[in-house]
Amino acid sequence: MKRIFSGVQPTGNLHLGNYLGAIKNFVALQDDYDCIYCVVDMHAITLWQDPGALRANTREVAAAYLAAGVDPKRCIVFNQSQVPAHAQLAWIFNCVARLGWLNRMTQFKDKAGKNREKASVGLYAYPNLMAADILAYKATHVPVGQDQKQHLELARDIAQKFNNDYETELFPILEPLILGPAARVMSLRDGAKKMSKSEASDMSRINMTDGADDIAKKIRKATSDAELLPGPEALDENGAVPEETRQARPEAYNLLGIYAALSDKPLAEAMTEFAGSQFSHFKAVLTDLAVAALGPMGHEMKRLTGDPSSVDAVLRDGAERARAIAEPVLREVYDKVGFLRS
Ligand code: TYM
Repeated sequence: MKRIFSGVQPTGNLHLGNYLGAIKNFVALQDDYDCIYCVVDMHAITLWQDPGALRANTREVAAAYLAAGVDPKRCIVFNQSQVPAHAQLAWIFNCVARLGWLNRMTQFKDKAGKNREKASVGLYAYPNLMAADILAYKATHVPVGQDQKQHLELARDIAQKFNNDYETELFPILEPLILGPAARVMSLRDGAKKMSKSEASDMSRINMTDGADDIAKKIRKATSDAELLPGPEALDENGAVPEETRQARPEAYNLLGIYAALSDKPLAEAMTEFAGSQFSHFKAVLTDLAVAALGPMGHEMKRLTGDPSSVDAVLRDGAERARAIAEPVLREVYDKVGFLRS
């Protein structure tokens, strides 16, 4: 069976973008693939994390996977730092990837901001660790939101360069799976900005643990425009929103995408339902849908985080199974590189 690897950083404030862009797809894919879902705590510390908060957030991401419906028997669920192969392979990739490649990474530029000299070396080398995450399992498919596309292209370049340099076919060519109508969920306050964990205003995002009242308030106050909602004739022949069309009404298309993803409908069908409607009517229906989808999941996340030993048991078992796959791959890599095993 083809293998999937994906991960989410335990940096707090898991939101609807993380759910619709990634976690919801993790659940759908577990029937057809051999799936490995990681809580990437080593990536999280590329920016400062309070140790106590990191522990809590690590359990919270694992709880989100489980509450969303990831089955820890069929899938491997673990946290990255429990499997040393990630760091070991990342070092080798630090020596394969070129500075010029990393210099092009837009996420580093965004996260480092103006004060680049003060950014951690880990933040810069972040995509190499991400490549190691995936390739330590020879995973071929990687479900992510749109914002991770550039990192996955780099991971593919690293795999190819390793294979070329060492004259091997050891690493497969990996493929991003950027799925569904909400692969890039935007801020509820500003349709030009991505919904993000680090945005100061909590009103900009719906958190996976928000209760019904918060969800309702955030959707009601979400930025909208003065026009009626567009119908499916606005879409191109592939059923996607042309970029110019989106830019003219980013908030409307964002909310329609969220509605389509939450209700498991193609965007065209969602748009047919609300063509010519007022925002107020649409927002009321969207609120009910979001509360119905997120409410039980948020409850289950809280129940699980209230029982940390059960979450830790899942992570421990997952780490053991992950090590059993990654260690032989790492041994193959070490042999190719010429590291002596005595
Ligand atoms: P992270 O923790 O920032 O986000 C986790 C997942 O959520 C997706 N996502 C979104 N999708 C749609 N709309 C949004 N507004 C939105 N915000 C976040 C992300 O695309 C991601 O799929 N580098 C990764 C974690 C990682 C990883 C990996 C992923 C580390 N190693 C290996 C795949 C494979 C990250 O920072 O995700």
